[in-house]
Amino acid sequence: ERRQLILAIESSCDETAVAIVDVEGNLLANQVSTQIDFHARFGGVVPEIASRKHVEVIVGVVDAALEEAAESLGLTGGAITPAELAAVGVTQGPGLVGALVVGVAFAKGFALAADKPLICVNHLEGHLFANKLTTPDLEPPFIFTLVSGGHTMLVHVRAWGDYEVLGETLDDAVGEAFDKVAKALGLGYPGGPIISRLAEGGNPKAIDFPRALNSRGDYRFSLSGLKTAVTLYIEQETAAGRAIHLPDLAASFEAAVFDVQYKKAKCALRETGAREYCIGGGVAANPHLRQMMIEKLGRQGIRVTVPPQNACTDNAAMIAVVAREKFLRGEFAEFTVDADPNMTL
Ligand code: KG4
Ligand code: ZN
Repeated sequence: ERRQLILAIESSCDETAVAIVDVEGNLLANQVSTQIDFHARFGGVVPEIASRKHVEVIVGVVDAALEEAAESLGLTGGAITPAELAAVGVTQGPGLVGALVVGVAFAKGFALAADKPLICVNHLEGHLFANKLTTPDLEPPFIFTLVSGGHTMLVHVRAWGDYEVLGETLDDAVGEAFDKVAKALGLGYPGGPIISRLAEGGNPKAIDFPRALNSRGDYRFSLSGLKTAVTLYIEQETAAGRAIHLPDLAASFEAAVFDVQYKKAKCALRETGAREYCIGGGVAANPHLRQMMIEKLGRQGIRVTVPPQNACTDNAAMIAVVAREKFLRGEFAEFTVDADPNMTL
């Protein structure tokens, strides 16, 4: 008796990713093809290149996932066939429209040809559900911080599907700030992993960067002033002929960003009475942010969940987790659906 398998596709930005889960939630395949090298020379994601690369690789990534799932199941007869799947899930939005369209069009054709139901997934909900990969019993109410390249949100998850967005960024997203600071320093793209590696050897108190909107009860975020402060610091030090101590700069920048994240999360937990906290999005891969939340909130008796580090940046495992939940509820999409670049949580 074979288990029911759900295949999920993610193509909202610069990763083409395909994952397969079984109906119990076991992850059987998790393939990610990243385009970072093609965008790095431009210092950021070029939408036109992203959508062309998705077109080039998507068939191969799906095939690799079907093979990986067969291996995970110990099957010797070759890859899983589309006919053996129970459903096909796909990221509908938000993201780059030209990138999303590739995944959605492929998923529709693939599901239609195999006569399988289609499931549409919100990418932001994917980042939230990545926490179920480490904590399957995670249950609302809880507070969720979403920090990615495109979003910065503090959310009160009252029930699954019932999201009260307490605050968002007024300007740059947290990941975007990491990318811009790395760019200003000529360090490459994406900036998050580069800054976080540099920060390992730095003193977070070396430079006193501004903490914006840091008053109690204010759940809005602002990152552009910090980015400007870092740029000014670099210009001043350079003009004065002083060498910039990169680890100290990186650690101090991180501290300014994460202090605010911690303070607002703590305040939201207190105000809502929630006793659980989780985090998601590319920046949640940052070891200092993870450690800070686990230790500081943990000390206050809050249960803190973080996704696996490789399930923080864009991936299809998190999309598959959401698709599985919708599959169990029989929440299928029409084949007339389109990509929705502006979807909200
Ligand atoms: O979730 P994600 O892969 O894509 C979006 O949905 O936006 O997030 C990408 C962002 C990039 O800005 C990247 O610099 C940042 O996540 N990021 C990190 C780290 N790894 C990735 N930021 C801080 N520390 C990291 N270790
Ligand atoms: Zn994302």
